[in-house]
Amino acid sequence: MRIVHCALDLRAAVDAARAAGDSIAFVPTMGNLHAGHHSLLHRAREHAGFVVASVFVNPTQFGPNEDFARYPRTPEADAAGLAAQGCDLLFLPGVDEIYPLGAEAAVRVHVPGVTESLEGAIRPGHFDGVATVVAKLFNLVRPDVAVFGQKDYQQLLVIRRMVRDLAFPLEILAAPIVREANGLAMSSRNQYLDAATRDRAGAIHATLLAMQAAIHAGTMQRDQIEAMACAQLEQAGFLPDYAVLRRADDLSEPVGDERAGLVALIAARSGRTRLIDNLLIR
Ligand code: PAJ
Repeated sequence: MRIVHCALDLRAAVDAARAAGDSIAFVPTMGNLHAGHHSLLHRAREHAGFVVASVFVNPTQFGPNEDFARYPRTPEADAAGLAAQGCDLLFLPGVDEIYPLGAEAAVRVHVPGVTESLEGAIRPGHFDGVATVVAKLFNLVRPDVAVFGQKDYQQLLVIRRMVRDLAFPLEILAAPIVREANGLAMSSRNQYLDAATRDRAGAIHATLLAMQAAIHAGTMQRDQIEAMACAQLEQAGFLPDYAVLRRADDLSEPVGDERAGLVALIAARSGRTRLIDNLLIR
C-alpha cells in the first residue's frame, strides 16, 4: 500500500491505476480504524480493482464544544490495518491540503432538508462540514464508487442527496453496521467509555430491537414506542437525545399509522460521550 499526503501524488497514483484499466473505489474516514471501517474496505474491493482510503480528521464538521482536539489520531496503526486489509492507496492529507484558504474561509456545501433534523438539529453546521469535505475528497480522488457505513445513517442520506443534486459522477454504496458482541455499534468514540459503560451500551441496540418488535406487534402508537425507548435508555444509564421512528428514505416523520419503510434512530449520551445507532425496520 502506498501512502500519499498531497493532491498531486494522489492524482498521479489514481491516474496510473485508471490507465492500467482499474476502476476506483474510495472509503473516506477520520481514522482510528476498527472492524467497521475495515468492512467498508471489503465492500469497496468487491466493486473495484483499486481501493483508495483517506484518513482526515475534518475540523469543519466538529462544533466548538465537540471533541476535535481529543479525537483519537492513530495514523500508524490505521496505515498498518489498511495495508493488512488490502487497501492500495492511503490519502493522509494535512489540513492545508484540504483547506488551502483555511478551514474558516472554505467554500461550504450545504444540503438542505435532510440535514435539518436529528444530528443536524443537535450539531449545527455538522453536515455542512461533512458535505464540504466529502465533495472535496470526491474531486481529489475522482472514484467510480464510494462506500459509506449505515452506522451514520443521516450522513449517508446527506451524501446521497449531494451526489445526486450536484451530479457527482460516482455511485454511493452503503455497508451494514458492524457491532461488538453485546450489540454496541463499533465507533472510534467507544474508547472514551469505561468498561462498565461499554457493557451497558449494549442497551442501545437492544432498544432498537425493542422498537422494531413493537412495530411488528402493532399494538403501540409510534409516540408510545419512542417514549418506551427513551425510558429503556434511561434505565440503562444513558441520556437520550432522541429515540425516534422516521421514514427511511428522507427521515421525515411518518404520517398516520405508516409502519413500512421505517428506520429507528437513537442518539444517547453517557457523560461526555455521545453514541448514535440505528436499525432499518424489516
Ligand atoms: P468516520 O466516523 O471515521 O467513519 C468513516 C466511515 O465508516 C463512515 O461511512 C461510517 O459510517 C463508517 N462506519 C463507522 N463505524 C461503522 C460501523 N460500526 N459499521 C459500519 N460502518 C461504520 O463518517 C466519518 O468518518 C466522516 O464524517 C467522513 C465521512 C469521513 C467525513 O469526514
